[in-house]
Amino acid sequence: MSKGKFIAFEGIDGSGKSTQVKILNERMKKEGNYCYVTMEPTDSPIGSLIHQIMTGRIKADNRTIAALFVADRLDHLLNDLNGIVNKVNEGITVITDRYYFSSYAYHSVDMSMDWVIKANEQSSNILRPTVTVFIDTDPDIAIERIAKNRFHQELFEKKSRLMKVREKYFEAFEKLGKVEQIVVVDGNRDEQKIAADIWEKIKPFLQ
Ligand code: ADP
Ligand code: TYD
Repeated sequence: MSKGKFIAFEGIDGSGKSTQVKILNERMKKEGNYCYVTMEPTDSPIGSLIHQIMTGRIKADNRTIAALFVADRLDHLLNDLNGIVNKVNEGITVITDRYYFSSYAYHSVDMSMDWVIKANEQSSNILRPTVTVFIDTDPDIAIERIAKNRFHQELFEKKSRLMKVREKYFEAFEKLGKVEQIVVVDGNRDEQKIAADIWEKIKPFLQ
């Protein structure tokens, strides 16, 4: 049996990833390709720990958080019950909302990107995405979208961080462009235009 494809969505917070994951999943379903949709941080015990840290219920150093994401990702791949590796080996196409490029971009704001890449080496050796889709949304627009739907107090602080994260994504793509398949789409448009663009750009990878 041929292996399933593995499609990773990336982008800053509010870039429109989960919206596009949903649209792609529906489109694939219409084509008769039933996908397994998942996300990081996961809802495993390690993922729950990360959520508790991110919501401020537990305190942890940035390096500890980066390492927890490494562990969460390995469990996401290797878990016996619903691990991505088993799914892909069974021929199932897997779509994930965030994968290791999120770690490269978000954590390298506070620490060396090379360290983060090295720390995730097990995951990249186990499973590289068939294609990574980066939704490139202007931080101002992403923040506007977030503000419309969620309660946020520190939008200014958030903007400067998201600007840095966006730059770090491009730095990571530059670094790894030779070994990774990356497509970039302009996320500053309406949902359907972005979806059509994604479809055109990933089609060659789904053959
Ligand atoms: P992410 O998963 O990247 O954080 P979401 O898909 O949850 O982003 O989108 C954040 C918010 O912006 C949601 O309320 C969503 O409905 C809205 N949104 C998503 N894509 C667009 C778009 N292209 N134009 C306008 N609003 C959008
Ligand atoms: P989430 O609420 O899922 O945000 P979004 O809808 O934007 O994906 O929270 C995920 C947050 O975790 C997001 O701010 C990015 C961050 N993150 C990391 O810092 N490192 C990682 O490895 C991953 C996967 C996510």
